[in-house]
Amino acid sequence: MKEYQLTATMRSYPWSELTDEQREVLTIAKEQTQRSYCPYSHFHVGAAAKLANGVIIRGCNQENAAYPSGLCAERSALFAAGAQYPEEPVTMLAIACFTGGHFTKEPGSPCGGCRQVMTETENRYGGKMQILLYGEDETYVFDSAADLLPLVFVKENLLGE
Ligand code: THU
Repeated sequence: MKEYQLTATMRSYPWSELTDEQREVLTIAKEQTQRSYCPYSHFHVGAAAKLANGVIIRGCNQENAAYPSGLCAERSALFAAGAQYPEEPVTMLAIACFTGGHFTKEPGSPCGGCRQVMTETENRYGGKMQILLYGEDETYVFDSAADLLPLVFVKENLLGE
């Protein structure tokens, strides 16, 4: 028997200690919560993906009466980035959640499917993507999407490697 420890580092910052760049991307994610289409959950999620060329792509959750046909905010931003700028690495992804008339105190946590897409985006461009999870009290910062999904399924798995 072998035992492995899977560890990840996360930092937590008050708004005042974030960089100007982080605050700009987070502010767009916060704005995007107000564009969310979420008539079923009433849970508004906004996302903003910053590219290496400086462009910031916006996303928000898109729900549907056929529930599984909807899409999370993170994936809407990352897929839009891939569609519009397929050659540009994504360097930063910010997420904010708004419900009951206010932003969540605790940062929202990306679902498993979004973590999978976030990691593939990182692998696709071969660089790290900083992940910012906004909360009213504190913002969580991960230096890499891979930290959010240990043992992620990758293309090598498909080849049986
Ligand atoms: N949602 C996101 O947009 N991102 C996540 O990572 C978690 C969940 C959305 C999906 C759905 O529209 C609503 O939040 C409630 O699950």
